[in-house]
Amino acid sequence: MDLSELDLDAARAAIAAAATADELAEVRKRFVGKKGAVGRVKESIKTLDAADRPKVGQAVNAFTAAVEEAVTAREAELGPTGPTEPSLDLTLGSHGRGRGHLHLVTQCQRELEDVFVSLGYQVAEGPEVEDDWHNFEALNFPPGHPARAMQDTLYVDLGEPEQVLLRTHTSPVQIRLMESQPPPIYAVMPGRTYRNETVDARHSAVFHQIEGLAVDRGLTFGDLAGTLETFVSAYFGKKLKSRLLPSFFPFTEPSAEFAITCVFCDGSGCRVCSNTGWIELGGCGMIDPNVFLAVGIDPEVYTGFAFGFGLERMPMLRYGVEPIKTFFDNDVRFLSRY
Ligand code: PHE
Repeated sequence: MDLSELDLDAARAAIAAAATADELAEVRKRFVGKKGAVGRVKESIKTLDAADRPKVGQAVNAFTAAVEEAVTAREAELGPTGPTEPSLDLTLGSHGRGRGHLHLVTQCQRELEDVFVSLGYQVAEGPEVEDDWHNFEALNFPPGHPARAMQDTLYVDLGEPEQVLLRTHTSPVQIRLMESQPPPIYAVMPGRTYRNETVDARHSAVFHQIEGLAVDRGLTFGDLAGTLETFVSAYFGKKLKSRLLPSFFPFTEPSAEFAITCVFCDGSGCRVCSNTGWIELGGCGMIDPNVFLAVGIDPEVYTGFAFGFGLERMPMLRYGVEPIKTFFDNDVRFLSRY
């Protein structure tokens, strides 16, 4: 039995001298390991008289606790790898990979959906490849109607000529909804749309729209105007006024272009609204009776309104994003900014 093996000063000096985590582990083993000093002393306890054992046991425990404490403190000083471990310093300029996030258009779509859901609307979607019936015919565009020419349609080479197309607006989803469920209907229908457009700062062949549809007994043009105002005020977070100017769409009668007071200058005129005080958002109107007849809803019993506008318009206005193709270039510098 050699109690001088439990030399705390020697242990502390060795711990302080350990320069790496590995060295420290070695020192710890040497003093408190099974094959170290503590191990050997414990081994020899068996050879002692029973009366002497507790004293030695206490000395071993005290020594072990003191060594462990010093080791823990030194570990904290050395850090996880130790200061002398050769390593590449990657701290400069390493900002992590970052997590992905939703595209700005998707974020905007979800925000708009939330506003309408809070007004009691359902959210519906339809196919991007449509047939002539849903995109045109049921919406009161008869074959050869000049309004079709306004839509610059991209046709798909499938079936009869010019019967399958990339939808030019989200209005065909109105038809699909009314075909599949009876009134009352309150729905918004966001989605991607396509037109054979000449691309410029504000036009793209691929873009998004959000469509609204309400069908019920006794709905009026006033309900349409009120809904639009409530919605834009909720989205932009302040009281905005809307303006409805006469327009034409085959599927609404009367039809209107709707604009809101400019969110930037509150209507006094600025660069964004070209000094008009108004910002055009889209088209709207009361559902044409011919549309109700096409989907089997009695226009003598029900009335309804619909509206549709470009989704990209919203973030373009909010953040000044231009040209519109920025949304579809997928340049990560743009994507990561929003
Ligand atoms: N679908 C029309 C367009 O794309 C917009 C619209 C929707 C107009 C609903 C009236 C009612 O131009």
